[in-house]
Amino acid sequence: MSEMPESRSTLESAALPDERRVEDSLRPQRLDEMVGQERLRENLAVFIRAALERGEALDHVLFHGPPGLGKTSLAHVVAHEMGATLRITSGPALERAGDLAALLSNLEPRDVLFIDEIHRLPAPVEEILYPGMEDFQLDILIGQGPGARSMRLDLPHFTLVGATTRAGLLSSPLRDRFGWVARLEYYPPQDLERILVRSGSLLGVELDDGARSEVARRSRGTPRIANRLLRRVRDFAQVEGGDGSVTRGMARFALERLEVDDEGFDRLDRILLQTLLERFDGGPAGLETLAAAVGEDKGTLEDLVEPYLIYQGFLARTPRGRVATQRSRDHFAAAAAGQMQGKLL
Ligand SMILES: Nc1ncnc2c1ncn2[C@@H]1O[C@H](COP(=O)(O)OP(=O)(O)OP(=O)(O)O)[C@@H](O)[C@H]1O
Ligand SMILES: [Mg+2]
Repeated sequence: MSEMPESRSTLESAALPDERRVEDSLRPQRLDEMVGQERLRENLAVFIRAALERGEALDHVLFHGPPGLGKTSLAHVVAHEMGATLRITSGPALERAGDLAALLSNLEPRDVLFIDEIHRLPAPVEEILYPGMEDFQLDILIGQGPGARSMRLDLPHFTLVGATTRAGLLSSPLRDRFGWVARLEYYPPQDLERILVRSGSLLGVELDDGARSEVARRSRGTPRIANRLLRRVRDFAQVEGGDGSVTRGMARFALERLEVDDEGFDRLDRILLQTLLERFDGGPAGLETLAAAVGEDKGTLEDLVEPYLIYQGFLARTPRGRVATQRSRDHFAAAAAGQMQGKLL
């Protein structure tokens, strides 16, 4: 993902800088520890079982979808279920063709090579990857200048797991070399509640039914955000009193203190909808026009912001442009009324 602005909200869907370690501790390692994404999990289970029965490496797989939905977790799950070693790198970390060549030539049979943010692979590195993925061969150049010659090296059969939030930025030759391309979807509240139960038991905090539904509803369909809110609610519960499980009242108090939006909107969600409502009278407005008005790149809006708003029924894509739905109008009218009331009291 691109750099984030200075002030990052609680509802940011990208990982916060200090969040990696705690995420690792909550990350599912087995397929049956992963909550939701039923279709994807069922298919993955079949592919893994078939590969194991044949004694082969799993086919290359690409996971794409918005931040925080479980792509990295799935890479861990794939390696674990295949009984294979996971090697982790990312598009931006592989600056030169030689970086990737070194990684590839050190792989063992059936290793899982995870390339995160694979849409950010530099083109010369990507080209090394093609014969690697397709024929398990590595072309290396020996020497320099006119005397240089190229050599082919056989690679062990490995599995490439790619992850990206921006599938649209992947070149088609790269995309075509994956045996399976799977899209992660936002999680419905009941799945987020199950994730809160699981994470809560790992962190030693229990939310009662009411608290769980309050947190799940505001998590923007995203396990990462659910886990983050859980940790913050735990802090409030610990410091502000109460013992045993966290109640709905306690959760609401904490969420209000955190100024978490009722619908789980983050900063960009709000800017996009408010711009559409206030400057374009609800739309329709073209994507380019909207992107210019909110000062964001249109791919970011299309891949990272709009999907959640569409999923929740706040935004619609029509042939004439983007339209804010009635639900959107109601939400912001209610929020404005709430603020007015706050001022009058
Ligand atoms: N299906 C799931 N079940 C349980 N926990 C999950 C699930 N998906 C994600 N999580 C939790 O959410 C956190 C974020 O997930 P993960 O890091 O896999 O997201 P990601 O899609 O790789 O995000 P990014 O695009 O930012 O890299 C993990 O720590 C994990 O604990
Ligand atoms: Mg990730």
